[in-house]
Amino acid sequence: METLQPPAHLKSRRQKEMWKRQLLQNVKERQKAQESQTPFRIAERSLQSKVATPDRPPVVDFTNLENNPPEVRAKLIRVELSHDLREICPLFGRTDDDWSKRRSIAYIHSDIEGLIFIPNPFTESAQRQLIYNCLQKYTQAPNSSSLDAHYEVPAEGVWNLYTKSRRCASNEDDSQLLISRKSRSNNGQKIPESADPYDAPSTSGQQSTSIEKDPDIADIKSEPSLHKPSELLHPSELIRKLRWVSLGYQYNWSEKTYFFDRPIPVPEEAAKLSIAIAKAVEGIGYRQDDGFRWQNNYKGDNYAPEAGIVNYYQLKDTLMAHVDRSELNMEAPLISMSLGHKCIYLIGEQTRDIKPHAILLQSGDVMAMTGASRSAFHGVPKILDDGPSFLQPGTIDENIPDWDVYGEYVSKARINLNIRQVNVDSSST
Ligand code: SIN
Repeated sequence: METLQPPAHLKSRRQKEMWKRQLLQNVKERQKAQESQTPFRIAERSLQSKVATPDRPPVVDFTNLENNPPEVRAKLIRVELSHDLREICPLFGRTDDDWSKRRSIAYIHSDIEGLIFIPNPFTESAQRQLIYNCLQKYTQAPNSSSLDAHYEVPAEGVWNLYTKSRRCASNEDDSQLLISRKSRSNNGQKIPESADPYDAPSTSGQQSTSIEKDPDIADIKSEPSLHKPSELLHPSELIRKLRWVSLGYQYNWSEKTYFFDRPIPVPEEAAKLSIAIAKAVEGIGYRQDDGFRWQNNYKGDNYAPEAGIVNYYQLKDTLMAHVDRSELNMEAPLISMSLGHKCIYLIGEQTRDIKPHAILLQSGDVMAMTGASRSAFHGVPKILDDGPSFLQPGTIDENIPDWDVYGEYVSKARINLNIRQVNVDSSST
């Protein structure tokens, strides 16, 4: 290989050394710039930018089809669910007139292979119930959370501590509810906290530059935290730092696999919802005159919800592009449910080098990642400051008398509940 020689006007050894060093530096910088300019990254940046740039992808709206420009609208295909979700699972809520009109509707996009979108099948109260579960029930032991590695969170979980602190009258001493920060992280396990999605937790206030690494499950990227090691935190501060909870088989962030020796069942309601969705999307595909381009043939009856992640997003949080590939079973659909604020979701293909599609997700929307989309890069570059009125504090919910405290949280947040099958389907082996 030909080696570049310093220009003739550089005479001294020092000058020649500096020239070489500069050359190397330029090459490195060029490489870095190229890596961080994948089409996926460009789309993320353009959606985060305040000004619309020409490379911003159109945001597909599956709920109001008339909101899409004609060229996007032409790619959205209505498909029929194979089961009525509310009939096979009462946790979606009770059938009403609104539901009767849309009970079987789902959509696919002709350019997004395998992704099945179900516009909000939940009633308003069913959504509130699911939010209650994600905050009150799923944040408790034995489920681990993003806080556990860094804070001494008791088994009852940060949400219960937070609601206790809210119940304390303002003149009462609630110092017994304060949570201390751990001095060292959890047995050296690299568990992402918030600021750095792919490396060890960052508390330095430095923004991560490692966003182009290849994580199996990415952590939500948040505003950096600036804590002193010995700090005691009030639950009201800590609750807004919660980023994820692991359900079912607990996720081992260091090894990018599951703790197979800790088979904790996925909570019953989340399991039932995901099974119903897996059944309803069975057989859905993209059909053209000469047959199916793709079809989800995973048998809903074989779907076994074995793990899940609840992601909690504050308004400035983002989730960088990643592929969920820690499951031994990549054939079973990954079921994803959105609650609270709207967001823009990006989904591409098997590399970041392909321009992704942007989708608007609203509270209650459900997606099934089947087939090719199951191993596609995806992420959440933007949470929109726009949530539904029926989740606001002040809403009366006879099943959740203290809804106000949930409503307050979710009026500034988005929650995503996603469920996966981990093991291969025993009937297929
Ligand atoms: C994920 O990919 O883990 C979550 C996606 C979402 O928040 O919708």
